[in-house]
Amino acid sequence: MIPSDFHRGRRLRSSLALREMVRENQVRPQDLIMPYFVVETDDESFMKEISSMPGQYQLSLRQLERKVGEAVANGLRACILFGIPAQKDETGSQAYADSGIVQQAIRLLKDRWPQLIVVADTCLCEYTSHGHCGLVKNGEVLNDPTLNLLARAAVAQARAGADMVAPSDMMDGRVAAIRAALDEAGFVNTPIMSYAVKFASAFYGPFREAAESTPQFGDRKTYQMDPPNAREAMREAAADLGEGADIIMVKPGLPYLDIIRQVRDAFDAPVAAYQVSGEYAMIKAAALNGWIDEQAVVMESLVAFKRAGADLILTYFTEDVLKALK
Ligand code: PBG
Repeated sequence: MIPSDFHRGRRLRSSLALREMVRENQVRPQDLIMPYFVVETDDESFMKEISSMPGQYQLSLRQLERKVGEAVANGLRACILFGIPAQKDETGSQAYADSGIVQQAIRLLKDRWPQLIVVADTCLCEYTSHGHCGLVKNGEVLNDPTLNLLARAAVAQARAGADMVAPSDMMDGRVAAIRAALDEAGFVNTPIMSYAVKFASAFYGPFREAAESTPQFGDRKTYQMDPPNAREAMREAAADLGEGADIIMVKPGLPYLDIIRQVRDAFDAPVAAYQVSGEYAMIKAAALNGWIDEQAVVMESLVAFKRAGADLILTYFTEDVLKALK
């Protein structure tokens, strides 16, 4: 005799229509932010695939314009820009030069697609000869002297037309410094999406090839967070919100879903999650080997971010997902 008082979970799974009716989370085009790497070069046709990120490229301004044009036609709402300057120096001056490559890219994209949300990653590591996210003296990454340069970079980005700035450097006090500088320059309405909870992760490996930003000595462990820490993540998020961050980001993504959930539960601000380069590389590598179904794995990984409580997702799969959602 079969008892009749058990839960019949299968009732609501029996057809796609029913499953979709009771679905709790979904990925929408407006949740996605596509990262692009733009290179300062005279070669308009420059487009170099990043070997550890198949399908992702370093792009000249012209090629960026072409790529973004295609993506906008497929429903792209937002992108984040990383720059690779022709010249790097000790102080990362191309990060805050009005003629810096990201500033040029922002002007170009906003001119072509005023409705596109263009986010600027605010950091020095792609622009410094030593590859660190702050000023370096005697082998030490200095905190306070770096703040002014980050603030200048954010203002240069806003002046170029960036809709949002996203400090990713992990210097203490940078959100306050950037907010004050933006306000003083008249950009009171430019939001800050801070990489508030950014771990010192090995999953950033492929990005450093893409952005040519590998530290020339040491690592980023004196400024990015120690991966075993969760309570500390709450303090970082609280600090950035206190300093004026509008959106807080957790990074990397999938290995840190617990942190996304805790941040979501503890704070009311919008939460962004970054599915980073190493996560992209792992999925791509397995897919290229025919070991997994790429599109299914990508959609499952992205909805996991939503389920964990993220509002926004930065992912290199954005262009593919937009096509799939069409
Ligand atoms: C710059 C920055 C990094 C990433 C985003 N902004 C690299 C780093 O901190 O070393 C990583 C993104 C990715 O891995 O996809 N500070």
